Amino acid sequence: MYRLRLWEPGDAERLLTAFAEPELARQTPEVPATEEEALSWIDRQRTAAEAGDAFGFAVTDGTDVVLGHVQVSVTSRTHDLGWVSYWVHADARGRGAATAAARLAAEYAFAETDLFRLELGHRLDNPASCLVARRAGFRPEGIERQKLHYGNGRFDTGTHARLRTDAVAGVPFTVCGS
Ligand SMILES: CC(C)(COP(=O)(O)OP(=O)(O)OC[C@H]1O[C@@H](n2cnc3c(N)ncnc32)[C@H](O)[C@@H]1OP(=O)(O)O)[C@@H](O)C(=O)NCCC(=O)NCCS
Repeated sequence: MYRLRLWEPGDAERLLTAFAEPELARQTPEVPATEEEALSWIDRQRTAAEAGDAFGFAVTDGTDVVLGHVQVSVTSRTHDLGWVSYWVHADARGRGAATAAARLAAEYAFAETDLFRLELGHRLDNPASCLVARRAGFRPEGIERQKLHYGNGRFDTGTHARLRTDAVAGVPFTVCGS
């Protein structure tokens, strides 16, 4: 069973191995490359949560090993909007970790914050993320042109959202852009 927990200093090495993957690093604005930077990244998760700006969690399957990360960032307090993002270690993909993490993060946000609408977006050439979003109850809402900026490129983006009032079940498992 997958769980979310707070990041801990002892996870620094595992965090560094995740970002050693160029594809993941390319999609992330701040890439920790040293133990000190990893510890700082972990500490920023705590301070962002204390400020109510973002709620980031390590994903585990009940053991101590971190499988990935999921985050809900508050994007508008006026409109009660959040943005969900996730990544999974290359060695832990394809076994449902991201889907469980996105569901658990949504449950956390709706239970513990006032957020009403959680949004997320994925490159159209990232069908795995589209499946994750749908399976976690994030309904597809269309395609936004060139919305995401990773590395040197901009990417057309499949946009999804889950409302506080949405049921999780019933989102068709087709892939955005197909
Ligand atoms: C996208 C990502 C989070 C998925 O994590 P994951 O834990 O492997 O996801 P899940 O196992 O919950 O589900 C992935 C599904 O997509 C499928 N999938 C994987 N690659 C695929 C592809 N190229 N085309 C279609 N489906 C694909 C998997 O088979 C799985 O479906 P299944 O359960 O029917 O086999 C992970 O690949 C990742 O971290 N990528 C780098 C960061 C990233 O892209 N984050 C998302 C940004 S929007």
